[in-house]
Amino acid sequence: MSEVARPLAARLNYAQVWEDDQVLLAGLGARVGGRALSIASGGDNALALALAGAERVDAVDLSLPQLALTELKLASHRLSLDEARALFGVGAGTAAGVLYLRLRAHLSDGARGWWDAHPELIAGGLLGAGRFERYLELFRRRLLPLIHGAGRRERWLTLDSEEARRRYYAEAWDSPRWRALFRVFFSQRVMAWLGRSPEQFAQVEGPVASVLLERARRMFVGPSIRDNRYAQWLLFGRWREEGVMPAWLTPEGHGALGQAAERVHLYHRSLQEHLGEEGGYDALNLSDIFEYLDPAQSADLWTRLRAASLSGARAVWWEVLVPRPAGAGMEPLTELAARLAVEDRVPFYAPPRVAERR
Ligand SMILES: C[S@@+](CC[C@H](N)C(=O)[O-])C[C@H]1O[C@@H](n2cnc3c(N)ncnc32)[C@H](O)[C@@H]1O
Repeated sequence: MSEVARPLAARLNYAQVWEDDQVLLAGLGARVGGRALSIASGGDNALALALAGAERVDAVDLSLPQLALTELKLASHRLSLDEARALFGVGAGTAAGVLYLRLRAHLSDGARGWWDAHPELIAGGLLGAGRFERYLELFRRRLLPLIHGAGRRERWLTLDSEEARRRYYAEAWDSPRWRALFRVFFSQRVMAWLGRSPEQFAQVEGPVASVLLERARRMFVGPSIRDNRYAQWLLFGRWREEGVMPAWLTPEGHGALGQAAERVHLYHRSLQEHLGEEGGYDALNLSDIFEYLDPAQSADLWTRLRAASLSGARAVWWEVLVPRPAGAGMEPLTELAARLAVEDRVPFYAPPRVAERR
């Protein structure tokens, strides 16, 4: 197991996928209808691909907890929509632990074993239960109140124009205290300690917090916070508008989830191992996995990805802090990526990358 794989595999790191599903689907375009390969992570984007009509989705992760979560999200089609929301801590109703008991017989041994051993994650609100979500919660609960009161946060939900958001950010939000505390909390040291792991920073060079502060500004002034579920979770620890929920928690998505789930196949192994056995992909959702690989390892992975893809296949991926362009034989779609960068609702990343297999 590689150095970075150990902390990634040992615990639930991501209860949600923090990569914009709308950017992913738009980047993959018509290729979404074919055979997709997706990093599983928190499951939302693998499910979004299946619900958008992918013929098959192979969801791969080297982390059992991430796959157990993805499996539970898939299994939630057996509950009513309100129950599914309650199971994941985004609505009132039957206790999540009771709802889990109704699903456990339908899970694989691996997923059942993981959830049986972690009832506290279920009881405490599953979608906030990843290490990364806990880190964001610490910021929201402990630090943010020292900077901006509830009223000032609420105001973000009322600002309709980009001009109004720009003005509000400059005049009311971007105080010296905001900048100072943000820089401390989102420094490499604190993030490696509480939010990611030191191994996830092995390839990172240069300042981290200032880059993230500028991306936070972009999130606030970019697409409306009313349409941005990622920003809403960051600011309020919940989704404030029903319409921002991920596809699998919407009425239509929940209704279609049972059928979609049959087309999602979960693989507990590294992508590198997976590509030795499976192929014929039209669409690749690669999260930001290159971030943890050195340039030679990235080039090697691209060679395998290209070999496992059909001509014209599309790939979408992100980078937080480590630039990792497309590998040989993959044509970067830079105009499309630049357009998508403007729409990207998640603040952590550099502009998304999109490439097409030649
Ligand atoms: C790449 S991480 C995304 C993290 C987040 N965007 C960040 O930067 O902190 C998402 C998922 O990828 C999985 N992962 C990372 N490298 C992988 C690999 N080589 N093969 C399979 N899964 C991998 C992790 O276990 C995790 O669940």
